[in-house]
Amino acid sequence: MSTQTIDSIFTRTERERCLDAFPAGSNGEFNFPPELAIVIERGDGPHLWHTDGKQYLDMSMGWGSVLVGHANERVINATSAQAMLGSNFACVNRRSLELAERIISISPACDRVRFCASGTEATHYCGRIARAATAKSKILKFEGAYHGANDLGVTSLFPNELNDFPNAERSCHGVTQTAADQILVAPFNDLEYTAAIIREHQGELAAIIVEPFHRCIAPIDGFLPGLRRLCDQHGILLIFDEVVTGFRLAFGGAQQYYGVTPDLVAYGKALGGGFPIGMFGGNRELMQIVEEHRMNNEPYVWTASTLGGNPISCAAAWAALDHLEQPGIYTHLHELGAYLRDGLQRVMNEQGVTGQVIGDGPLAQFIFSSEPVYDYRSTRAGDRAKARRVLLGLIKQGIFLNPMGTKLYLSTEHTFDHCDTFLAAFQQSLQHDIAISD
Ligand SMILES: Cc1ncc(COP(=O)(O)O)c(C=O)c1O
Repeated sequence: MSTQTIDSIFTRTERERCLDAFPAGSNGEFNFPPELAIVIERGDGPHLWHTDGKQYLDMSMGWGSVLVGHANERVINATSAQAMLGSNFACVNRRSLELAERIISISPACDRVRFCASGTEATHYCGRIARAATAKSKILKFEGAYHGANDLGVTSLFPNELNDFPNAERSCHGVTQTAADQILVAPFNDLEYTAAIIREHQGELAAIIVEPFHRCIAPIDGFLPGLRRLCDQHGILLIFDEVVTGFRLAFGGAQQYYGVTPDLVAYGKALGGGFPIGMFGGNRELMQIVEEHRMNNEPYVWTASTLGGNPISCAAAWAALDHLEQPGIYTHLHELGAYLRDGLQRVMNEQGVTGQVIGDGPLAQFIFSSEPVYDYRSTRAGDRAKARRVLLGLIKQGIFLNPMGTKLYLSTEHTFDHCDTFLAAFQQSLQHDIAISD
């Protein structure tokens, strides 16, 4: 036996090493079965390659952070050039200044902004600013909403007990009951219920935080303007978590798409063109709260993020915005998303499977339920075990996605052909599932 063969017998695969090095073989969330743990070598456009050479069609796109496609040429050029000039100064720099000005010109809510390094930080700072500005402690979120890995984001994220509203459920151990008690929970898309909670708690409610497009559920007509109105009536701030919707549903994000302007806004994901970024902003008066000279004198919120506003992420963001601002990009993203959603529904109908497709723009999710889906509890009514089996079946066929059943993300680099490839795999996965379930 040659040395090479002996070596290869005793060399552990990347998959085995990955399962040793990372809890559950991942850096978080995916919950892959061990045999499907994936170690990526590289990405290009809408594709990824496993270290063993297998190609995947990426329907997750870095959980939506790479809207412009992997290894986007504009982003490569901008970040390579900046890397030669230094990567972090923890100080306002040419790149962060020009990016801040550009975002202020795009985002109606923002007169002033600060950068951080993730969406989790951005929503966290918005919550703190709202508390400081109103001198009230509670924040209302919608059941099932994710605002990052902070207390606000993970509380009532995957509630199981389904407490009466507005009582929060700690979906994550390690969040203290005291922290959870500062969060009120309402059903998304139910303005009347939300209004009743607000009326009862207005004296202690600092803000409402909302994903304007909640997970993959669109707001019903009047819901977001209704929240705006309620906030104005009761002296409560409205925070839009635009980490997913920002620069995705429209260049101007959910604010432009739905025509509602919040008081504070958090960005992340797609803004960075695949590089780490977070940003939060609001009007001049609110954003004064983070000015350091106020410390120990006036209401003041500490914000500082070592890598926030680093010039490489800002250069990537500038390039990503240039890419997204090209004519026809959003028409393409919306047409592609509609094509995918129609195709998913068609395949389910053809297979005689009860299910529906939700989403908008370049986002889609299939749910095995015939009941209308408008909030967390109605989404839960779907057959989640079946969804997981079908999603894992797709991974086996070379589709990369998150089997925890969250959204499918398209990018500007996906085409109708890529959607057809996905739909053919979806059909196979459904067929296989029907065969094993019979
Ligand atoms: C709506 C929303 N807000 C905030 C976050 C947190 O962003 P990050 O993972 O960059 O901290 C996410 C991440 O998925 C998100 O979907």
